[in-house]
Amino acid sequence: MSFSIIHRPRRLRKTANMRRMVAETSVSVNDLIYPIFVDESITTAVEVTSMPGVKRIPLLDVASMVKEVEDAGVPGVIFFGIPSEKDAIGSGGWDDAGIVQQAIRAAKQACPDMMVIADTCFCEYTDHGHCGVLHGEEVANDETLLNLQKEAVSYAKAGVDIVAPSGMMDGMIAAIRTALDAAGFQDIPIMSYAVKYASGYFGPFRDAADCSPTFGDRATYQMDPGNRREAIKEALLDVDEGADMLMVKPALAYLDIIREVKDATHLPMAVYNVSGEYAMVKAAAANGWIDEKRVVMETMLSFKRAGADMILTYHALDVAAWLKEG
Ligand code: PBG
Ligand code: ZN
Repeated sequence: MSFSIIHRPRRLRKTANMRRMVAETSVSVNDLIYPIFVDESITTAVEVTSMPGVKRIPLLDVASMVKEVEDAGVPGVIFFGIPSEKDAIGSGGWDDAGIVQQAIRAAKQACPDMMVIADTCFCEYTDHGHCGVLHGEEVANDETLLNLQKEAVSYAKAGVDIVAPSGMMDGMIAAIRTALDAAGFQDIPIMSYAVKYASGYFGPFRDAADCSPTFGDRATYQMDPGNRREAIKEALLDVDEGADMLMVKPALAYLDIIREVKDATHLPMAVYNVSGEYAMVKAAAANGWIDEKRVVMETMLSFKRAGADMILTYHALDVAAWLKEG
């Protein structure tokens, strides 16, 4: 028996090849960026407890790690440094012999074609864990900009391919652009963490990178999770200031924001699938409650569907391997 139904969407779902033909979104290894934590104080890698499969590595292991990423076909890495010494202003961030500067040199020497990105902030370098210089308990915006200029130029001198300021300071893109240009680095692009929310999903990262604020929180510089219009404003400001790429972070709880920023701008868009998103999947998978590969690939697809061009993810090496398997 049959009803006279004109539109039968199931016609296009009948076989695997039919579904392939009508698929709207895909994930490619080209979309992936792998975050790497480099710890100046260790000589052998240390597993991050809350992020199974993720390690802090010593400088010595940077070359082999970046080669592994290259062999997996992943085009980019982003470095986070854990310096052996911190101070009130985060001066380790612009030390030409600093841990990230050394990691950049090691990575570019081992794999000259790898896109090496440096997270450009101060929370890993300050003894109070905030993303800039303090005046009392306030992060002083404009003084922090001066230090961001020094940090970005120092990374550029070390050979970085892209700087990625993540501290949500007002005017950070213009300040960094001016400093890079003045130092002769007109061709180094800026990937702006333009839309970064004050999020509980950063928890495991703060263990990994040892950068929890010792007092207060980041709510005076990172965004209120309920704000949507403000995301567009932040993104457009960074476009005006000369950002080359934009980022929305975290990713999974902010898919609507990814789509809105994508529609409002014309820059390549990155999303950061952050530590807490990773930890939840790993914990559920370890308990046998979800199929890790299936859930991770579905999540990557959701970022692409929302408008992401690039995905910073701790799953990058697994995703690359799964894509190869098909
Ligand atoms: C530093 C920075 C953070 C993350 C990336 N860069 C932490 C923070 O803002 O507290 C989080 C990444 C993650 O959770 O995976 N500003
Ligand atoms: Zn920071």
